[in-house]
Amino acid sequence: MTPADVTFAPELAAHDTIIEDINAEAFGPGRFARAAYHIREGGPHRRDLSFVAIIGGEVIASVRMTPIAAGKGRALLLGPLAVRPAYKNLGIGKKLVAIALDAARGDGCVLAILVGDAPYYAPLGFSKVVPYGQLAMPRPVDASRLLACELVPGSLQGFAGAVVHADLAREPSAEAALLKAAE
Ligand SMILES: CC(C)(COP(=O)(O)OP(=O)(O)OC[C@H]1O[C@@H](n2cnc3c(N)ncnc32)[C@H](O)[C@@H]1OP(=O)(O)O)[C@@H](O)C(=O)NCCC(=O)NCCS
Repeated sequence: MTPADVTFAPELAAHDTIIEDINAEAFGPGRFARAAYHIREGGPHRRDLSFVAIIGGEVIASVRMTPIAAGKGRALLLGPLAVRPAYKNLGIGKKLVAIALDAARGDGCVLAILVGDAPYYAPLGFSKVVPYGQLAMPRPVDASRLLACELVPGSLQGFAGAVVHADLAREPSAEAALLKAAE
């Protein structure tokens, strides 16, 4: 197995079952209690900004991006990121993150955040959210694990408050327009 045997592709609906298996294997049942999981429950992820790694026709790793909001700010929540144990330490996880960030940037997204290990994500452009209290996560998160990557410099400043799935943070004006259209 060499890096040349791995292909990276946008996620498809057909990958859902295998991705669920990969995440169950990587995170176990504890994943359901995590703050990030709770946010992701609020709505769908961005399949067009989520990617898989494939070896010999089989999906062996995945990263997802979910649209989120905090106050008026909009961002992406990166994760879960998981690689099948047999394929760890081949650079697949970092490549998936880099591809997802590039796609997000290309789509005009300004900020990505995640809950994870800073030593792993720092080389990919993530650093601790400071001040930690700027963001209120729906469940407790270790302050040293709440990380952000500014795809546009300064974007973290405009992202403050309770973090929710973007679908749960519709602008009041959009809400009013929808109600009017339904009249
Ligand atoms: C973490 C994970 C995604 C890494 O994927 P991977 O493809 O093996 O990682 P890469 O090959 O891109 O990078 C490997 C390097 O990262 C390091 N690394 C791996 N996990 C790390 C961690 N949690 N913290 C710090 N460094 C880590 C490795 O030691 C290795 O270092 P080296 O390059 O100096 O040898 C994978 O181990 C995994 O799926 N783990 C279980 C799920 C998980 O923890 N996901 C991340 C949530 S934050």
